[in-house]
Amino acid sequence: MIKDFIELGDFTGEQLRRLIDRALDDKALFQRGELPPALPRKVLAMIFEKPSLRTRVSFEAAMTHLGGAAIYLSQNDIGLGKREATCDIARVLGRMADGIMARTFSHDMVVELAEFSDVPVVNGLTDHSHPCQAMADLMTVQEWFSATQRDRAPLHGRTLAFVGDGNNVARSLAMGCAKLGARFVLSAPGGYELDRHFVARVRSAGGDDCYVSEPDPALAVRTADVVYTDTWVSMGQEDERAKRQDAFGSYQVSSHLMSHAPSHAIVLHCLPAYRGSEITDEIMELHAPTILEQSANRLHFQRTLLNVLMGEGGIE
Ligand code: CP
Ligand code: NVA
Repeated sequence: MIKDFIELGDFTGEQLRRLIDRALDDKALFQRGELPPALPRKVLAMIFEKPSLRTRVSFEAAMTHLGGAAIYLSQNDIGLGKREATCDIARVLGRMADGIMARTFSHDMVVELAEFSDVPVVNGLTDHSHPCQAMADLMTVQEWFSATQRDRAPLHGRTLAFVGDGNNVARSLAMGCAKLGARFVLSAPGGYELDRHFVARVRSAGGDDCYVSEPDPALAVRTADVVYTDTWVSMGQEDERAKRQDAFGSYQVSSHLMSHAPSHAIVLHCLPAYRGSEITDEIMELHAPTILEQSANRLHFQRTLLNVLMGEGGIE
C-alpha cells in the first residue's frame, strides 16, 4: 500500500492504469449523481507556496463532493520552513487533518511532509513535478481516443509531443507515458531539455523508445496524437522571462505548427496559458473542448485519488 502521491515514478503502470480507469468510472457516476460521498467529516489541509486556480478549486470541490472539507493555507499563514519547521507542520497537520495537499517550490519539502506525517500527502506541483496534472492529462487522452476512435487501448502506443520547456509538467508526463506504454517526444531548445538522469529513469520505466528528444518542433509533432504545451516561464522563473521568451520564440503551438501534425491530433495545455507566447489565441479556441475537459479532469481524477488515499488506506 502506498500512502502518498508524490511522483508517478513511485507507481507501477498497472497502478496508474487502475487509477485512470477508476477516475473515468467515478466521473460517470458523479455525472449521473450516483457517486457516494465517501469521506464524510474528513479534512484535507492544502498548503500553497505558489498561486493556483485549478489545483485549489479542484481539490476543494472534490472534498465537498466527497462530504468532507478542505482548508486553504497560504505561505503567509503558515511560513512553511520559515515560521515553523516542515517536520513539525507535517506532524501537527497529521493530527488535525486526514490528508495534506502541498504546492511548494522545493520538491524535498513535499517529500519531507510525507515522511513526517501519518496521513496521505499529495504533490499539488513542485519545481520538479506535477503528477496530478499528468494523470488528469492522460485520463483525458484515454477518454478522447476511446470515444472518438473506439480504441480499446487508447493510451498504449500513442505519441504525445510536448513542445516547450522541459519543466515539472513535462517530467510528470514523460514518466506517465513511459509507465502507460505511450511515447513522449520533447521538443525544447538547447539547455531546456530534461536532464539525462531523469531521462534514464524514464527509459528504464518504459524502454529506450518511449522517450525521444527532437529539437525541431515541426518534426516532433509529425506523428503526434497529442500536441502538448505549457508556459515557457514557470512560477518562480519570472526573472528569466526575457531570456526565455527569446529562447522559445520558435516553439509556439500555432496553426503553422499544427499543419505538420496528423489531422486527428488534439492539443492539450495544463493552463494557465499565455496566449501569444507558447500558444496562439486561434489554437487555444480551436482546441478549447479538449483543453477545458482536461482542466475539468483535474477535479475528476483528484476526487478519485482522495477517495483511494483518504478513504481506502492508499494505492495498492
Ligand atoms: N494547471 C494547474 O495546476 O493550474 P493552477 O496553477 O491554476 O492550479
Ligand atoms: N510549469 C508551470 C505549470 C503551472 C500549472 C509552473 O510550474 O508554473
